[in-house]
Amino acid sequence: MRNLKAYLAACQNRVELALDARLPSAGVLPKTLHQAMRYSVLNGGKRTRPLLTYATGKALGLSEDLLDAQACSVEFIHVYSLIHDDLPAMDNDDLRRGKPTCHKAFDEATAILAGDALQTLAFEVLCNDPAIHADAPARLKMIAALTKASGSQGMVGGQAIDLASVGATLNLPELENMHIHKTGALIRASVNLAVLSRTDIDADSARHLDHYAKCIGLSFQVKDDILDVESDTATLGKTQGKDMDNDKPTYPALLGMAGAKQKAQELHEQALESLRSFSNEADLLRDLSLYIIERTH
Ligand code: IPE
Ligand code: IPE
Ligand code: MG
Ligand code: MG
Ligand code: MG
Repeated sequence: MRNLKAYLAACQNRVELALDARLPSAGVLPKTLHQAMRYSVLNGGKRTRPLLTYATGKALGLSEDLLDAQACSVEFIHVYSLIHDDLPAMDNDDLRRGKPTCHKAFDEATAILAGDALQTLAFEVLCNDPAIHADAPARLKMIAALTKASGSQGMVGGQAIDLASVGATLNLPELENMHIHKTGALIRASVNLAVLSRTDIDADSARHLDHYAKCIGLSFQVKDDILDVESDTATLGKTQGKDMDNDKPTYPALLGMAGAKQKAQELHEQALESLRSFSNEADLLRDLSLYIIERTH
């Protein structure tokens, strides 16, 4: 994954600057709200979703500067989902990205509002950001893709299933459905925002990339479940063992650790298969799929 390491570092710097530039500064009123938004966004996430947007762009011959706004929009939604996911009413977590969660560093009401405001900021960016050199119909398609991925038929729907499943035993299709929604949908959108930025893409390539994204979206959450069991709090930057404490249905709980790892490997292989018609311009996407199942946090 030599390709990926250098790209990852360069992209993380790029994303940091792009996010910073699109967030209201900490001195703008209401200051506490803007401080909370900046605290939660600019705090060392892996930036996997922006990276996927850029890497998909690379596979399609699109330069990064055409994708900064799309990459930021999906990260803003992701961070909003993390802030709300950590609230006492949901997973009740105190640690995120190695620091106190937003509601611990500020308060619950501010955390709810910071999440709300990051969500709308994501769509404001897709509507107005001049870095997106796309016409109104293309922007509208991007907005439609991100709204669908975020809402009750995407991430929020998955979170609702997650909360309703506490203490329940889901079967494999039910667990897969939950993961595809709560985590897979936004990862799929990260890829598709780049696809939608290349308006002359052929239907087959778009379909193959969407299938790739579906596979890695699921493998990402399978690996998240595995890490919750196998890793430690310092490495994760979030409290290890919370799924078991909160009695959440997970892949390791349902399939055993070996079964969960086997599932992640199979999804990686399916992701690679989806990219068969691409040559080395899609190597970063191939590396990212491997990174997702091999990462340590
Ligand atoms: C954690 O996402 C929550 C899930 C959807 C599994 P990440 O593992 O991408 O978290 P950050 O953004 O790197 O902190
Ligand atoms: C979160 O899943 C998915 C989201 C939509 C945020 P988890 O609850 O497993 O994520 P972590 O483990 O807290 O990061
Ligand atoms: Mg959760
Ligand atoms: Mg959680
Ligand atoms: Mg988790």
